[in-house]
Amino acid sequence: MTRPILGIETTCDETSAAVLDERGEILGLVIHSQDVHRVYGGVVPELAARDHVRRIEPVVAATLGEAGVARKDLGAIAVAAAPGLIGALLVGVTWSRAAAYALGIPVVPVHHMEGHLFGPVLEDPDAVPPFVALLVSGGHTLLLWVPEWGRYHLLGETRDDAAGEAFDKAARIVGLSYPGGPAIEKAAAGGDPGRYPFPRPLLKRKGGARTGGGGRAGDFDFSFSGLKTAVARTVAEVEGGGGGRGKQPGGGTVEGTPLEAERSHLAASFQEAVVDVLAGKTLSAAEAVGCRRVLVGGGVAANRALKERIREGIGPGGRLFAASPRLSMDNGAMIARAGLFRLRLGDFGGLTGAVAGAPIPGVLAYAPQEA
Ligand code: KG4
Ligand code: ZN
Repeated sequence: MTRPILGIETTCDETSAAVLDERGEILGLVIHSQDVHRVYGGVVPELAARDHVRRIEPVVAATLGEAGVARKDLGAIAVAAAPGLIGALLVGVTWSRAAAYALGIPVVPVHHMEGHLFGPVLEDPDAVPPFVALLVSGGHTLLLWVPEWGRYHLLGETRDDAAGEAFDKAARIVGLSYPGGPAIEKAAAGGDPGRYPFPRPLLKRKGGARTGGGGRAGDFDFSFSGLKTAVARTVAEVEGGGGGRGKQPGGGTVEGTPLEAERSHLAASFQEAVVDVLAGKTLSAAEAVGCRRVLVGGGVAANRALKERIREGIGPGGRLFAASPRLSMDNGAMIARAGLFRLRLGDFGGLTGAVAGAPIPGVLAYAPQEA
């Protein structure tokens, strides 16, 4: 295909479109982050779907305008078809099918998490396999060994909450706004990460990864719900402590409620625990696979502490690939880039229409001999 590709993303609470040329260069990109959910402290699915309906046409029009590309010049439309909120997904998929039918061009259904794998390569041509990938978003936590595009060996995943979800829930518990990840990172900047010894779930487990023989050692699996409970318990203790002044590590005091006084320390201690677990498991996986190239993708990959810790761990001989924060969060460009790959391959990984839950295409159990 030599004509530009349009990418559409509406899986959750971003309405985004991008136009890429056939080499994967971004010609235009617009991301509309929905604001309607803020007062609820989390995404309300019906409100998300309705806002996508309102926004998709103006977002696409603005993207094409920025790219200087007319609809009739498009060669294909890639759309995030799974996984996500079904009402939200249906808006993007239905719009894309209708537009592609009218234009007489193909629709490429893309798995949202495969899109995140293609985020870093939008800005860095070296961000290609082989690498160990940590995909951390609001709905997923996946650790993959990626010897080549389209072959994804599952090393581990979350058993309960996703990493981004843990940030969002912890933020809510300590009284910060949605989305919680950026709010926690900002609050943590002034806090003491050692103040509260929150648990590091499943971090100490050692041994093999999931094996091709059907074994599920699960040593690279994650669990974040216990951590959330620990934060809630600590907040209850802090609030129960009474008094209008909180003690600061330096001996000073700040005005306000005890929770306000402790908020930055709670945020810093929570972030430290999550980073310890995510970076620790990623680095052990890189060692187990024997590959010092690591990619982080998904909204949580915007977190600086996480990237710094992984970069330190892999050392000067290794490489860490991460997109800029704008391309780490949900966006149409990563969907278009993954769509280019799928279109060239001529294989959409079994995806056809909108599906709320679907495994990443090409996912395989980890078989060490294939590493
Ligand atoms: O990939 P993404 O934009 O949407 C989903 O596919 O879910 O990820 C959103 C998640 C949210 O849970 C948000 O709190 C988290 O990414 N996030 C962060 C940061 N920025 C966004 N988590 C930690 N630190 C950040 N700086
Ligand atoms: Zn995402």
